[in-house]
Amino acid sequence: MKKLIFSLCAFALTATAVAQPLMKWDEAYRKADAVIKTLSLDEKIEMTHGHNKFFLPGAAEKDLPRVFMVDASSGVRINYSIPDQNEVRHPLRTTQFPSTITIAATFNPELAHQFGKAVGEETRMSGAGILLGPGMNIYRSSQCGRNFEYLGEDPVLASRMVENYVTGMQSTGTLACLKHFLCNNTEFYRRNSNSVVDERAIMEIYTPAFKAGIDAGAASVMTAYNLLNGEWCGQSKYVITDLLRGELGFKGLVMTDWHSVYDWKKIVLSGQNVEMPGDMQFDFPASVRELVDRKELSEKDLDKMLRPMIATCIRFGLYERFKNGQPNEDHLVSKMPEHLKVSYQTAAEGTVLLKNNGILPIADNRQILLIGPWANKLPQGGGSSKVEGYNHITPADALRSVTRAKVTVREKPTMAELRKADIVVCATGTSDREGTERPFALLVADEELIRLAVDLNPNTIVLVNSGSGIDMSGWNDKAAAVLYGWYPGQNGFEAIADIIVGNVNPSGKLPMTIERSFKDSPAANLVPKAASLSKAVGNPNEKLFHPATYDVHYSEGVFVGYRWYESKNIKPLYPFGFGLSYTSFALNDAKVDNSVISAKKPVTVSVTLTNTGKREGAEVVQLYVTENNPTVARPKKELKAFKKVKLAPGASEVVSFDLLHKDLAFWNENSHKWQVNPGEYTISLGTSSADIDAQVTVSVAK
Ligand code: BGC
Repeated sequence: MKKLIFSLCAFALTATAVAQPLMKWDEAYRKADAVIKTLSLDEKIEMTHGHNKFFLPGAAEKDLPRVFMVDASSGVRINYSIPDQNEVRHPLRTTQFPSTITIAATFNPELAHQFGKAVGEETRMSGAGILLGPGMNIYRSSQCGRNFEYLGEDPVLASRMVENYVTGMQSTGTLACLKHFLCNNTEFYRRNSNSVVDERAIMEIYTPAFKAGIDAGAASVMTAYNLLNGEWCGQSKYVITDLLRGELGFKGLVMTDWHSVYDWKKIVLSGQNVEMPGDMQFDFPASVRELVDRKELSEKDLDKMLRPMIATCIRFGLYERFKNGQPNEDHLVSKMPEHLKVSYQTAAEGTVLLKNNGILPIADNRQILLIGPWANKLPQGGGSSKVEGYNHITPADALRSVTRAKVTVREKPTMAELRKADIVVCATGTSDREGTERPFALLVADEELIRLAVDLNPNTIVLVNSGSGIDMSGWNDKAAAVLYGWYPGQNGFEAIADIIVGNVNPSGKLPMTIERSFKDSPAANLVPKAASLSKAVGNPNEKLFHPATYDVHYSEGVFVGYRWYESKNIKPLYPFGFGLSYTSFALNDAKVDNSVISAKKPVTVSVTLTNTGKREGAEVVQLYVTENNPTVARPKKELKAFKKVKLAPGASEVVSFDLLHKDLAFWNENSHKWQVNPGEYTISLGTSSADIDAQVTVSVAK
């Protein structure tokens, strides 16, 4: 048997080897079937659930080793909470990369690829086969404590980033795990919430990024904690079999989120492949063995459950790689300096300049007073994505190292110091974390400090680091500049300081809308008024079989993010896709090569981008589609393509986009199909969702 299994593996990728074509799924499934025939009932039952919290189950006697997995969104977490630490060998250290939303803010798919590749290499360096990411739940509410782990509010932006992240990561032999499927868009009692979502929103907003990851070859998917339309995602036949495998065409391994399912019969029959972490935190009404004994489940049902997991491990060479236990790939430590470059570049391209009265970049001879709660701190998101990193660089360290100016640091400055300072940089933000929402407003003391600074000193630059939008209405108008930096990773403040002094020209764009007031948001009433956000951690209701649930109505349907604000004529503080540069750009001369578009004949839309300023810089040209006379309510604009282009001062480039017939489609809930209506469509080209410089029209024939 030993020989059989290992010759079954298509190949074993090594991080340095040139990738070879993967085995076809059919073949992997045939091989999985041959393996399953050799498994005993006991082994099959054992393989329905995980081992030691972070291992996929195996069957030692049949040479199916257990596969180690690691979290996730800011690089590789060294996990000291695994119960049996003797079973794992940890690397000395791993890089703390910027949070995932930073990747989205770069609007640079190539960088997403490099990011995925770097994290893929560190996953292998950590002796793991699967990285439990990327996360891609759509940003629906600025209070969601996990937005920093995701890719913003727009399905097309998230899709382009996910597919590149996945191909980058999987080129190293690390398997990506798309999470959390599906509609896990709040952390408020995340294990008790029932997302009530219509089919059209599911198809147009919440699944496209998953579909893009699947089409890019993602090997695994993690289901979500919440219920979707009445059933827990991890045991829902609709979610896994109909939607994920059926509609989206996924063939790989599905795993549950940790402690998120409650009924073995449903789990096995839903299309789910493995219950994680497998330590039975809940009282299931019956065990798999009892259900098999009672003939409520057959052995065939178990075979069906295990097939995709085994086929995936065979197809991607994981059994081969783990045959002697956790593989030792310490040589990949040599790649870590390159990873720091990717990390730096992501922060450099993902930091968004929201406002600038000309104070930035600051001149060399100006003295800086660095204030605020985070002047001396490296902000980071919390939870399973937290990565310790090493050689942390705080705002104070970074500013001191890039400027010859004097930098004085006072977390809580006096009024006199504020008045006197040449330039004030206020480092502020929020500490977002998994398992809890956080208020849109900053902490009172932090808010007061910014207000005081902008009142006393007109040269105040506010540097925000947060996982989502915050309330800036109290000081935005008075601030000389606002820079939005997310959780930038262990060396991200080097990039931010380089932006502040002008060594780097900012080119980040908002991957979500920042509303003026939280009441403007479609999710404004999601959390009951009196509820405490900080206590709203997941409520697993241990030992209770039926946890109490509450409904989250996605009554805005497809009108998420800028689609919502535009349809309601609500002007946000900063629109989706917005971000300034130290140079200026003009978009002119929009053209389309053919005014009629059909399924057989896409069109090419082009526009000329010119750098009209005095220094080199990058701009993101964004293409939005509007159906002029829709038959169902449609957003005023939908992003369909974007390109980031770097230009020397005075230089121009013709930027072109292939627009496909399917880019005009909406999901028809009656026919359950994508539909493109005949008629006219406006194609808008701009540099944010609210800055449209050029338009062309195309039509679809009757
Ligand atoms: C999170 C997942 C994570 C898993 C394992 C869960 O609480 O929701 O994103 O991968 O834990 O740490």
